[in-house]
Amino acid sequence: MIGTRVAGLTSPSRGEPLRIAPDIASGFEPLTAERVGTAGSVAGLDVNPGMLAVARSMAAASGADIRWYETSAESIPLPADSFDVVFCQLGMQFIADKSAALREMRRVLVPGGRVLVSTSPPNPFFDVVDQAMSRHVGADGGAFVRMVFSLNDPARIEQLFQSAGFRSVAVRTDRRLLRLPPAKDFLWQYVHCTPLTGLLSQLDSGQTAALESDVVRGWQPWSDEGGMSYEQGLIVATARK
Ligand SMILES: C[S@@+](CC[C@H](N)C(=O)[O-])C[C@H]1O[C@@H](n2cnc3c(N)ncnc32)[C@H](O)[C@@H]1O
Repeated sequence: MIGTRVAGLTSPSRGEPLRIAPDIASGFEPLTAERVGTAGSVAGLDVNPGMLAVARSMAAASGADIRWYETSAESIPLPADSFDVVFCQLGMQFIADKSAALREMRRVLVPGGRVLVSTSPPNPFFDVVDQAMSRHVGADGGAFVRMVFSLNDPARIEQLFQSAGFRSVAVRTDRRLLRLPPAKDFLWQYVHCTPLTGLLSQLDSGQTAALESDVVRGWQPWSDEGGMSYEQGLIVATARK
């Protein structure tokens, strides 16, 4: 749902087909491809080959012309001045050199081309996972969860865009109500599609059950008969070259 909202902001403003819209940190939700359809083409970039493979399989039905690149966002192997839109959803917080990545995004845009970057602020719902990981895995256990929500200061994000040379920088915040599966199901879905799966593989069955119990109890305020409802904050930054 967060992605659907974000994708709406990338639709062509003048009704023309998008030529190419690179999707940085493609991961497993190739939303840009769904918006572009067969009228344009998409370049999907991610540093993680496993995530690219999932993105590729999910994008197969979209019909869009997608080229995939296993690469870091800090060094994009694509020509300058050749893309209408750069789209980076929930990926910037993981990129080590954010300034270099933004300069690269700007380089590949045509003059006047648009960039959209989205991130999420910390929240009490995922604090439950952070605390349980720290308690059962150790001090570093919650580090991944904290990193997911680490790029959360709109002023800093605006400064990063300005420093990279973008104009018309706008950073806005929003909230979306997400409907999730029941706590136990969602916990393991989340764990198995993140690096948390490696950390939890170090626990024995008793430790794993204790962590699961803590998280399920911690998520009770968001739980109802059919699953969980959780309001996620969203920070969306847009700008032009
Ligand atoms: C939370 S996923 C987001 C995936 C997708 N955009 C989505 O919204 O579902 C973050 C992605 O950023 C990728 N990533 C992390 N550092 C990166 C970098 N330096 N360059 C490119 N991709 C990177 C990860 O491999 C991961 O697939």
